[in-house]
Amino acid sequence: MTVTRTVNPSENSVEAPTNGLFMDADLSLDFLRVVEQAAIACAQTMGQGDRHKSDQVAVEAMRREMDSVPIDGTIVIGEGERDEAPMLFIGEKVGRAHLEANGHGYPQVDIAVDPLEGTNLCATGAANALAVLAASESGGLLHAPDIYMEKLVVGPSSKDVVDIDAPVRFNLRAIAQALGRRVEDLVVMVLDRPRHEQLIEEIRSTGARIRLIGDGDLSAGISAAVVGSGVHAVMGTGGAPEGVLTAAAMRCLNGEIFARLVVKTPEHEARCRQMGITDFKKVYRSQDLASGERIVFAASGVTDGTLMKGVRFFGDGTRTTSVVMQTHPHQIRFIDSIQVNTSKNVKIRF
Ligand code: FBP
Repeated sequence: MTVTRTVNPSENSVEAPTNGLFMDADLSLDFLRVVEQAAIACAQTMGQGDRHKSDQVAVEAMRREMDSVPIDGTIVIGEGERDEAPMLFIGEKVGRAHLEANGHGYPQVDIAVDPLEGTNLCATGAANALAVLAASESGGLLHAPDIYMEKLVVGPSSKDVVDIDAPVRFNLRAIAQALGRRVEDLVVMVLDRPRHEQLIEEIRSTGARIRLIGDGDLSAGISAAVVGSGVHAVMGTGGAPEGVLTAAAMRCLNGEIFARLVVKTPEHEARCRQMGITDFKKVYRSQDLASGERIVFAASGVTDGTLMKGVRFFGDGTRTTSVVMQTHPHQIRFIDSIQVNTSKNVKIRF
């Protein structure tokens, strides 16, 4: 699907019914605009070596665009607490409702954002940086603290045969069997971190192949759930907020994340408790992390990646590729958008 449009993004906002029900509103194209604008903003800084700047412009663009969305939105996973994040902080109100004096009637929506997933990837021009958000009706996304989370992410064929507590060897054998191939044919994505040394050794000892990634276990997780991406599992420890976003994507893709918070210190415990989490050993699945009846997930490529191309600037316009998925109606759209800067002589290439 290719969507071509002129640049004033807010004009293209799809009106959602203002009856207060997220269930009745189709906000997917509004959220698409939000991630596209974040991706375009930070893609302009690609390779500049300044990850904070890349993140900052993505946050600003996402924040700006979010206010044109016809919702009464609350950020539940964002850039951190209010005192450390000037924008998109946890608890911040976003959407048109908070700008209008009489703003009630808009659907109440909880939103998890990662305006730039893979700040280093963007700063170095490496693959798979994304602008991402997930949304659900109020209460439909776990308020996860920004601590680590153990993760095992697999696609639809393997989700009923793995166990996060089983040995790596067992899980890889089960995934291979479910996919009708040899363990040696599998590709497992793992964040390249010293904490994963033993995990990497265990995977290597089975003969399975590994793609070590510098950052971005969320985009890796999405790939693992898409047949034909060449990725069969993601293993290891990454950010808990990325885990919740991955879960939202899994709800749409019928993949699965098995996850457990890494609670090691009293400070971690306190942060969990603050968010209402008291069972620190719980193994979460997608339905626990993103429990909403209605989930929307949107991501735009910032740099070229496995499933999406990065942002391309071609003088007369800007081209983005994105994925927008939702559970109701259940659909997954890969969207190729061209935003035209100067309409006069623009030439659109297939
Ligand atoms: P940023 O977008 O904040 O740069 O995080 C990227 C990321 O690689 C995530 O994909 C992953 O979950 C997490 O960082 C891993 O954390 P760490 O870099 O501390 O190992």
